[in-house]
Amino acid sequence: MVGARITVNGKEAPISPAPPHTTVLDFLRERGLTGTKEGCAEGECGACSVLVARPGVNKPTDWVAVNACLVPVAALDGQEIVTAEGLATAGEPGCPPTLHPVQEEMAVRGGSQCGYCTPGFVCSMAAEYYRPDRCAHTEETDGGDTLQAGGDAEHGPNGFDLHALSGNLCRCTGYRPIRDAAFAVGQPTDDDPLAQRREQAPPAPVATEYVQDDAVFVRRGTLAETLRLLRERPEAVVVAGSTDWGVEVNIRARRAGCAVAVDRLPELRELRVQDEYIEIGAALTLTEIERRLDGTVPLLAELFPQFASRLIRNSATFGGNLGTGSPIGDSPPALLALEASVVLADADGERVVPLADYFTGYRQSVRRPGELIRAVRIPLPLSPVVAFHKIAKRRFDDISSVAVAFALDIEDGVVRKARIGLGGVAATPIRALATEAALEGKPWSAQTVEAAARVLRGEGTPMDDHRASSLYRSAMLGQSLLKLHAQTPEAVSS
Ligand code: FES
Ligand code: FES
Repeated sequence: MVGARITVNGKEAPISPAPPHTTVLDFLRERGLTGTKEGCAEGECGACSVLVARPGVNKPTDWVAVNACLVPVAALDGQEIVTAEGLATAGEPGCPPTLHPVQEEMAVRGGSQCGYCTPGFVCSMAAEYYRPDRCAHTEETDGGDTLQAGGDAEHGPNGFDLHALSGNLCRCTGYRPIRDAAFAVGQPTDDDPLAQRREQAPPAPVATEYVQDDAVFVRRGTLAETLRLLRERPEAVVVAGSTDWGVEVNIRARRAGCAVAVDRLPELRELRVQDEYIEIGAALTLTEIERRLDGTVPLLAELFPQFASRLIRNSATFGGNLGTGSPIGDSPPALLALEASVVLADADGERVVPLADYFTGYRQSVRRPGELIRAVRIPLPLSPVVAFHKIAKRRFDDISSVAVAFALDIEDGVVRKARIGLGGVAATPIRALATEAALEGKPWSAQTVEAAARVLRGEGTPMDDHRASSLYRSAMLGQSLLKLHAQTPEAVSS
């Protein structure tokens, strides 16, 4: 039987003898690929970014940038990755390699000083360089020539979306030269091997049972097989994007006797729009959901850019964000405001639980041992007035002090229905039930909103910690409702 293997920069390598908890980052560095750096080991700096061949949205394969410090290398059994070393093209013997276009632009525009962050920036930049739907904004001149032009603060004239770099930190160059490099890259040429690679399917997931010492990393091919395994091993750690588990392994030195991968299970990767609800597979990444929904759930479209960084969203899933039960996950407030339910599956069948009844305590839920989140259901129709307000110290790549999601139906100037989800103000994500009651049936007026904002300030039991004081958290709750009212078009508030 062939052991677990991974293809790195076109060459296949055995994963053995790395222990099952070994991250892709440590695996690469052990093999001398030290271009991939460790800055934080918890998904916040992007120094470890590498490219993974994944099922594409617009082409068979997308090159997706992920944090190598978080992903167990065993999770990439049979898969294909490219590191910063694999982007350049080897030269003739005795000659230097030819830089990749993103490396070239970083070099000539001064995008690198100490260079520690540079390989990670280059990999994130390369993923955006190869994004199939990235296209240049063009304008026609008076003489009939077509020129690249336009863009905005977050998009270059070449269509480069700066959010692609939101998970990469640089502590010495400063971001302006890096942005200049990003906005200067062109389109891949026809003979570019990584561009050509997008036309073929990515490697299929393979069943894995990788055992070293007393630990095992397992991937089964179907949901039924996985649920049978979880019945036998209810203590197993379920791993999807590993954006939470990777931090536990690196920072808290946690180890799993049995880790079970669910990120490639086809049954967890469907997105279905029905008459009564949208069902989103628990193992679709947030980037995949964002691109596939393409704005059809406006509250989620507001949430996604504020959820961590593109690097994290390329791996993180709704299943993982709800499965950890964290009170400061960013998706629960939005999903609570959308009145979502979770579809829980075990070897005996499925049950559907409203998300409002799912959380039972700090990092606890009604999910039983052996049960998996298969999907999230969002009922239709959607409320038209929505907002997601994340209060954090940094705009991107940060953890919420408070998160507030609103979904309101306002007809003829009256609030017919209000659903408000809160994160960061209690041991679990919660609905702001008293505030919802204070709004419903009332005119959407400054007077109503000011009274409801006072109620909202009293929701939950916010605490003092290093991110914010309880008083600040309460104040931000009230402010978020005042802000929504100020931002709501007059036509609605009439
Ligand atoms: Fe910082 Fe991986 S080392 S994100
Ligand atoms: Fe030094 Fe970015 S070049 S940290």
